[in-house]
Amino acid sequence: MDPNSTAVSKITVPVILEQKLRGEKITCLTAYDYPTARLVDEAGIEMILVGDSLAQVVLGYDSTVPVTVDEMLHHLKAVRRGVRHALLVVDLPYGSYHVNNEKALDSAIRFVKEGGAEAVKFEGGGKRAPLVRTMVEAQIPVVGHIGLTPQSVNALGGYKVQGRTLDAATELVADAEALEEAGAFALVLEGIPRELAAIITRRLRIPTIGIGAGPDCDGQVLVFHDLAGLSYNAPAKFVRSYANLREVLHQALINFRADVGGGCYPGDSESYHWSTAVSQQFEKETARTG
Ligand code: KIV
Repeated sequence: MDPNSTAVSKITVPVILEQKLRGEKITCLTAYDYPTARLVDEAGIEMILVGDSLAQVVLGYDSTVPVTVDEMLHHLKAVRRGVRHALLVVDLPYGSYHVNNEKALDSAIRFVKEGGAEAVKFEGGGKRAPLVRTMVEAQIPVVGHIGLTPQSVNALGGYKVQGRTLDAATELVADAEALEEAGAFALVLEGIPRELAAIITRRLRIPTIGIGAGPDCDGQVLVFHDLAGLSYNAPAKFVRSYANLREVLHQALINFRADVGGGCYPGDSESYHWSTAVSQQFEKETARTG
């Protein structure tokens, strides 16, 4: 898709809902800056998420917990400038929706008004249903996120697959139904058994977007840096690297250093030049003044 063309088809919330009805898989990737947003958008990916994984993959924090609303907003604005076609979703970071729903709505409204987000995502099951309603009443579309919810790393005691027992699975099915009922238009299922993701996907009218939840979800989301082989974290079982950009970039940097060291960069064709007239004038001047 040419981002300069005016004939770009815009992905909206109804388009995402129709994709589930038509049985068309939905793709979603994270982006945190302008060039990545352009790459992802121009590849026709339907949803772009400014995820709070920003904290780890770009800002170098140990978890998603420390990232702030202001940091998210800074990156959201850069991504907004690169997106023409995809539906732009942003994560509410940890702490921005845990005090009360009014404070959460304030942050979401900043993301929509100042950052150009078209939907927000936040983690948690049935207990977040009132917050989903608050957002929907304020005309802000919501993506839910259940299963392995990284913002709860301290409470969960690590990044562990969820819903492995029948009790835990039953609770997650109820969470999914509560979020749909409250008005979420899509649901991220992270780190749960394939069988459970398939059951939730069948039960819901809204699409499920899986990450580590098997192939039966209505769509799949990955962290861009994992897909591109740019991540410094050990890859999880579900990650498929479609490129090894770390290796490609490492080699490019080694080559640059060697070229500069060996005097082969920059070459003559990579240099600016005087015109012949200025060169001749300079030579004449030097000859005259010695
Ligand atoms: O922040 C993120 O990257 C996410 C995805 C894992 C869904 O929330």
